[in-house]
Amino acid sequence: MSEETPARNKRRSSAEDMAKSQKEISVSEFFAKNRHLLGFDNPRKALLTTVKEAVDNSLDACEEAGILPEIWVHIESTGKDKYKAAIQDNGPGIVKKQIPLIFGKLLYGSKFHRLRMSRGQQGIGISAAGMYGLLTTGKPVKVTSKISPRKPIHYFEIKIDTKTNKPDILNGKGEGEDIPPNDEGRKWIEKHEIEWVEVNHGTRVTIELEAKYNRGRGSVDEYLEQTAISNPHVTLHYKDPEGTEKLYERVINVLPPEPVEIKPHPYGVELGRLAHMIHETPQPTLGKFLTESFSKVSPSIAKQLCAAANIDYRKPPQKIHRDEAEKLYEAIQSAKIPSPSTDCITPISEEHLLKGLHKVVPGQFFATATRPPAVYRGNPFQIEVGLAFGGAPASHKVSLETLEEMLGESDARTLRQFLTSTFDGLGADAADKIIKNSRLRPRVSPKNIEPKEIVRLHESLQTLNLSEGQTMNIYRYANRVPLQFQPGACLITQTVMGMNWKPYALNQSRGQLPRGPVTLIVHLASVWVPFTSESKEAIASYPDIQKELRLGLQAVGRKLGMYLKRRERVKDEGERRSVFLRYLGEVATALSSVNGSDRKELYDVLVAAAKQKTAIADVQLGEDGKPLEEPDDFGANVIVVEEDV
Ligand SMILES: Nc1ncnc2c1ncn2[C@@H]1O[C@H](COP(=O)(O)OP(=O)(O)OP(=O)(O)O)[C@@H](O)[C@H]1O
Ligand SMILES: [Mg+2]
Repeated sequence: MSEETPARNKRRSSAEDMAKSQKEISVSEFFAKNRHLLGFDNPRKALLTTVKEAVDNSLDACEEAGILPEIWVHIESTGKDKYKAAIQDNGPGIVKKQIPLIFGKLLYGSKFHRLRMSRGQQGIGISAAGMYGLLTTGKPVKVTSKISPRKPIHYFEIKIDTKTNKPDILNGKGEGEDIPPNDEGRKWIEKHEIEWVEVNHGTRVTIELEAKYNRGRGSVDEYLEQTAISNPHVTLHYKDPEGTEKLYERVINVLPPEPVEIKPHPYGVELGRLAHMIHETPQPTLGKFLTESFSKVSPSIAKQLCAAANIDYRKPPQKIHRDEAEKLYEAIQSAKIPSPSTDCITPISEEHLLKGLHKVVPGQFFATATRPPAVYRGNPFQIEVGLAFGGAPASHKVSLETLEEMLGESDARTLRQFLTSTFDGLGADAADKIIKNSRLRPRVSPKNIEPKEIVRLHESLQTLNLSEGQTMNIYRYANRVPLQFQPGACLITQTVMGMNWKPYALNQSRGQLPRGPVTLIVHLASVWVPFTSESKEAIASYPDIQKELRLGLQAVGRKLGMYLKRRERVKDEGERRSVFLRYLGEVATALSSVNGSDRKELYDVLVAAAKQKTAIADVQLGEDGKPLEEPDDFGANVIVVEEDV
């Protein structure tokens, strides 16, 4: 072949030519091009990601400093498809010299090199948001930070230089401004129209960006609401682009226990990393290196590992060869090393999860389960699951005004798509039912629906009983941060779908989400969350995590199954009793006319007997809807709400 087409095989460029174009790529240039990796794939998500990165940082900083977090989020429209997002906290503040690096340099942070439970871990989040803002609007990131009531407030306007991944400070002759902490300073702030909520310490970051503001699934509003559930110790003030203010007040006044930083566990360290660690360690001997660098490696285990790898325990790490490192790595894999201690994880707790769930989902039955901590690849983690049954779908809550706005803002092509993608738990069947009931066409564009038709649509959303068409709604969380995208790629969703929910009295088609008015909260807490990408949207599939997930889901599933089966029994017995009662009057009349006994007496005796026979109908649903004398108790952390059966 090649001889036949010599022209096509002509060398196009030489190694020297190619060498001319081979050069280093700055991380900022890389991520500017691959912004989808960081969650900036479209204007709608960009707004959410920006708010989320800033709020997550604020929460991390407050908790690390031991301050009960109070956060202000303000989104303002600044032009067509342009928004300004400002996020302020009452955290510890940031020292002057760090501000430009934190907001104007990718991969700069305090959390990457440690194993400690926190929301951020990579050191990309907030600078990437600033970079996206700069690329789409040309505007710098504005940062105001104060570390004490007596010290000046630092004010910076920063642009990231994507070529060099370095910050470029625009104000105060390249040094930023210091604002005095007194009246003079307050005047300065006013004059320069800097927004700043008066706090003793804290940080405010403002980013202007190209964005789209939407409500419903995957929105900023949803993120803040879900954040309030998983962080009951936070007070959140939110002002949306329409100027509507919303306050989520904290429901508990204590911080979660402080997470402990741990050393890596030997099982979780790959060969390359081990070799690098050996090379870098200041320790004088291999034995000391092992005991000092890893958790759970005692001197005797270190000796055992060295012996198995056939290396002298006292050998200086710098003299360890690559093949020795490999032997040591193999020795680690086959040695029995105790699991890392797991007290470094601070779960939300069953009690708080239950409270949070109860607050947002108006259901009839609530249950939670916390698994004991476990370990994947040497990293401790813990799974918590909460379940609510009986809540109406989110579509029930929407007001006519909001629905009108949502239809206008929607980028869905058809009404059917709008319904299923906007409202949690609203499946295709339910959407069809609503569309039919409102006498609309499924393929009509949301923007072309007439006001009269919107009224009908709203009525259907409010009044139709959709419990049959509802699918399970899952709130996923990692280290208390809601995960709103890529459910299909996430281990949590995959595990829920892969489980059989029929034994728990839920309908389910194979490999699909179960049906019914069920809301699940699943939380993975870990010192290192294995995300599938830098945008931190989905959890990667680790069998150890999946196993724990399954056990947690089964635990709440069993409680739900028990409740649903019992409810069914109550209903059946109730029906049986009403049949009895319907005929007892006639039976009593007939009997008294046959044998002349007192009809009233007879009737009372018969009713008492019928009630006794159908006793379950009373016993199971006591006054408060809770089972009173229950043989098979649900166990701890369950709420049953009274219901009109
Ligand atoms: N509001 C804040 N108050 C105090 N310190 C902050 C604040 N925001 C950021 N920081 C500091 O700046 C660092 C960088 O933040 P950034 O969001 O870029 O990365 P990260 O939070 O470490 O990781 P990730 O990329 O996963 O978010 C943080 O590690 C933290 O030390
Ligand atoms: Mg962060």
